[in-house]
Amino acid sequence: MTEAGVLIEFDDVTKQYDGGTAALSGLTLRVRTGEALAVLGPSGSGKSTLLNLIAGLDKPTSGTVTVDGVRVDRLGEAASAQYRRRRIGMVFQFFNLLDDLTVLDNVLLPAQLSGVPRQKALQRADELLTYLGVARHAKAFPGRLSGGERQRVAVARALMNRPPLLLADEPTGALDTASGQEVRQLLTELNRDGQTLLLVTHDLALAEACATRTISLVDGHLAATGVPA
Ligand SMILES: Nc1ncnc2c1ncn2[C@@H]1O[C@H](COP(=O)(O)OP(=O)(O)OP(=O)(O)O)[C@@H](O)[C@H]1O
Ligand SMILES: [Mg+2]
Repeated sequence: MTEAGVLIEFDDVTKQYDGGTAALSGLTLRVRTGEALAVLGPSGSGKSTLLNLIAGLDKPTSGTVTVDGVRVDRLGEAASAQYRRRRIGMVFQFFNLLDDLTVLDNVLLPAQLSGVPRQKALQRADELLTYLGVARHAKAFPGRLSGGERQRVAVARALMNRPPLLLADEPTGALDTASGQEVRQLLTELNRDGQTLLLVTHDLALAEACATRTISLVDGHLAATGVPA
């Protein structure tokens, strides 16, 4: 049973890929609602593995993963897809927008997949695009936007279904200095407005600007924690 206020709970989680050493090893971690947790660590330390386990895209070899009261490690494929649509927003280094859909249609997609009525979805998309400062690009295709604008659209799409958790894997990794700064500020504001964030990054400026707590992974182990929750 997860303690009240805890959104993510890893209990003694190990992930072993075939033939390799463990990507995560005996990891125990709690993230509370409202936190912005930055996960740092060198290449190969297990950061993306951690995100994949939270998102239900992969299963631990042993241990339990609980998110928002859901035992993610136990979900079958269909339940896992539904879990992601409802509870997880994801933002990636290279935006992962669909280039042949307009900005608006990209943002509407998660709502469509969840069967949200069109009018309601349009209203939410409009609200998000305005909030994120990209409403004037609604009818444009992502290819015409700057990197920073594309990442704002990706954030809008990730937030469409009001997920309790927003995951980001190197969200500033492909951006120039100015766009990176924009996205840092945006994520900081989202967290101030109550959005729980988990950010995997090499960008110390992002961790410093945005994180309420920072942890580091080394060889699949927790290396150091900041202020405990
Ligand atoms: N699908 C896979 N099959 C086999 N080994 C994998 C797989 N995915 C990851 N690994 C291994 O698990 C370890 C952790 O990888 P992971 O991708 O989590 O690292 P990371 O911290 O995200 O690195 P980076 O900063 O380069 O993105 C690495 O040794 C990697 O080679
Ligand atoms: Mg990675």
